[in-house]
Amino acid sequence: MTKARITVLATGGTIAGIAGSALRHDYRPGQIDIVEYLSRVEGLGLEAEFAGHQIANIGSEDVGPKVWAPLHEAILTALADPECDGVIVTHGTDTLEETAFLLDLTLPCTKPVVLVGAMRPADAVGYDGLRNFANAVRVASDAEAAGRGVLVVMGDRVFAARDVRKVRTRSTDAFRGYPRGSIGLVTPSALDWFGAPWRTDEVARFAYRDNLPLVVILYVHANMDPDLARRIVGTDQRGVVIAGVGEGNLPDSVREVLIERRKAGVAIVRASRVDEGLVDREPEDDPNGFVAARALNPQKARILLQLLLADGVSEPAVMQRAFDER
Ligand code: SIN
Repeated sequence: MTKARITVLATGGTIAGIAGSALRHDYRPGQIDIVEYLSRVEGLGLEAEFAGHQIANIGSEDVGPKVWAPLHEAILTALADPECDGVIVTHGTDTLEETAFLLDLTLPCTKPVVLVGAMRPADAVGYDGLRNFANAVRVASDAEAAGRGVLVVMGDRVFAARDVRKVRTRSTDAFRGYPRGSIGLVTPSALDWFGAPWRTDEVARFAYRDNLPLVVILYVHANMDPDLARRIVGTDQRGVVIAGVGEGNLPDSVREVLIERRKAGVAIVRASRVDEGLVDREPEDDPNGFVAARALNPQKARILLQLLLADGVSEPAVMQRAFDER
C-alpha cells in the first residue's frame, strides 16, 4: 500500500500544550513544536509520510490574520504540490471553528484539508491529541474528503466546517455539528462517511483577504440598555452580528439603534446566542434591511459577513442568499 503524503501545518493549541504533570488541570497551549510532535506521531506507525511546518505556536484565542495569512498561503502551496495528498492543520480548539470556516470559504476543494486539536495537553493522562491526529490522517488520506470542504476531526467524529461548533469547555467530546451532526465516523483504522461528497469547487468561493472589514458581535441579554448597545456598535463598524435571544430576537429599543446604523449603511445580521436552531427571516427584516443568519452561529456569521463586505456586497437580499447556502 502506498503511503499518503500529508502536509502538517502546526499553529499551537492544547494539542501542543504541556502541563508539567500528568494530573494537573492548568497548562500552557503551544509548547511542543512540530518536529517534536511528529517524532511522537512516528511511534504510532501510521501509513503516511509527513512534511511538517510551524505556522505559529500559540493559544487559539490569539489566532487572527497574523496566523490566517501564512496558514492560507501554506495550504495553497500544499494543494498545488503534486507530492502532497492532503493537509492537516493542528489548532487550538477554542477558535478552531472560525479558522475552519474561514478556510472553507476561501480555499478550493481540490484535496482534503482537515483541522484537528485536543482537549488535554500532551503530557496529560488520557491525552487525546495523538488519537485525534491519527484519525485526521485517515481522513486526510481519503480523496473523497476533498468534496466535503474543510473538515474538523475531533472525538472520533468528522464535522463539516460550516456545521462544527465547540459546545463543551472540557470534555474530549467537545464538538458538535449543526444542523448536520457529524458527517462521518473515524478511528485510526476505519472511516465511514454519512452520505456522498457535495462540493466540487475548483476555485474558492471567496478571495482570502488580510484586511477584513470591522464587524462586531452584539450579545443581547435581558434588560439591555440601548445606550450601551449604541456604544458597543460604535460608528466605525461596517457590520453588526446580533447574538440575539431565542430566534435572533432583541428588545425594541436595541432594534431601533440597529435600524439607525442600517440607515447609515451598516450591514446587520440576526443570529442567536442559543446553541442550536435556525434563525429565519421575520417580517420586520425586509423594511429594516436586516439579514437572518440561518444555521450560522454569531462567530461564523461574522466571518461570512466580513467576506461578503470585503467582496463589495451590500444588498441584504444578496447577503441573505449566502447565509441560506449550504
Ligand atoms: C486553545 O484553543 O488554544 C486552547 C484550548 C484548546 O486547544 O483546547
